Amino acid sequence: MKILNAGAPPAVYSNMPPSKTTKKHAKTAPDAWFTSQLMEWHATHNRREMPWKGEKDPYRIWLSEIILQQTRVEQGWAYYLRFTEAYPTVQQLAAAPDESVFKLWEGLGYYSRCRNLLAAARQIVAQHGGIFPADYQQIINLKGVGPYTAAAIASFAFGLPHAVVDGNVIRVLARFFGIDTAFDSTEGKKQFARKAQQLLHLPAPGAYNQAMMDFGATVCTPQKPQCGQCPLATHCEARLHSLTSSLPVKGKKLLRRDRLLLYTVVKSEAGLLVRRRQQRDVWQDLYELVLIEPEDGQVPPLAEWQATLRAQLAMPGLVLTSLHGPLKQELTHQTIRAMLAHGLVAKQPAPAGYEWADEERLRQLAFPRLLARYLQQTNGAQASIF
Ligand code: ADE
Repeated sequence: MKILNAGAPPAVYSNMPPSKTTKKHAKTAPDAWFTSQLMEWHATHNRREMPWKGEKDPYRIWLSEIILQQTRVEQGWAYYLRFTEAYPTVQQLAAAPDESVFKLWEGLGYYSRCRNLLAAARQIVAQHGGIFPADYQQIINLKGVGPYTAAAIASFAFGLPHAVVDGNVIRVLARFFGIDTAFDSTEGKKQFARKAQQLLHLPAPGAYNQAMMDFGATVCTPQKPQCGQCPLATHCEARLHSLTSSLPVKGKKLLRRDRLLLYTVVKSEAGLLVRRRQQRDVWQDLYELVLIEPEDGQVPPLAEWQATLRAQLAMPGLVLTSLHGPLKQELTHQTIRAMLAHGLVAKQPAPAGYEWADEERLRQLAFPRLLARYLQQTNGAQASIF
């Protein structure tokens, strides 16, 4: 087996500080060493296998990258396989009914990605004759595609020289080069993007980007990095100065809002009362049960809950029978706590904006994850909904 780090770094490097930044494309000695060590690691030690790795079809790469935005590889994997099986081409995805695509996306969260996925597929058909564009500017003009995704598609599918910058890349660069600028500041964003681009291995931009992603995910990990196995360790600033746990530096604090949601499973002989969410938020276009969001964040007594619903739905005969929860879900900007009541009512027309969904219809609709799980479990485990 080849021993990592066996090749000594270039002599000039050993007494040279890591570069601040120099000319746009010329690599300094530490930059060149970094890139060659990384590519060597990729060729000999990167064992990470994923279904989209080495993929050349831009449509499939795009799908995988949209799925992987804000989603762990382990979770995205099965969704990628289901999507590519259901919609092998961008034309097929573009022609699919919204509801079917949302259903396939159910559980992945961040549903704006799904809306944008459909919009971009239709954009490719309408503006590019169904052929995925091969130009960085055209790729980044697709709905839902930002600099990271555009660089991934451009480099993986077309070998174009664009470096990806995400959390993994930032961590590797901050540690190796000892960069302590807050990565979420304007200056930090520019600095990391410039550095990543300088380091790009021009003969194989796609392989370089994949190497960076995999290296960040498997060696230079957020917690307990594998410095003992790291081919960059001998010249890593963070390693040399015991800074691995302090780099990278984040500037802004994430503030999470606490939300209490009161859902009601309103059941009649016609099914469960559901509606499509209109609010422009993370759950726009998904379906939901009857919802009350109390402003004071307190769970009201069941009698009060029932009275509110009777008035809101104009269903004086509605009777709430049981209360369940709390169910919890952490989103990026909010912590959701949900309580669920079950209620019964005589068969009647659904109130405006709602529909009665029978068991089969319910299976076709996409719900926020917390509700999808609840409906599935309650129905499956106790057969208590239908
Ligand atoms: N995260 C986002 N894109 C990825 C990819 N192509 N490989 C591994 N992790 C990723």
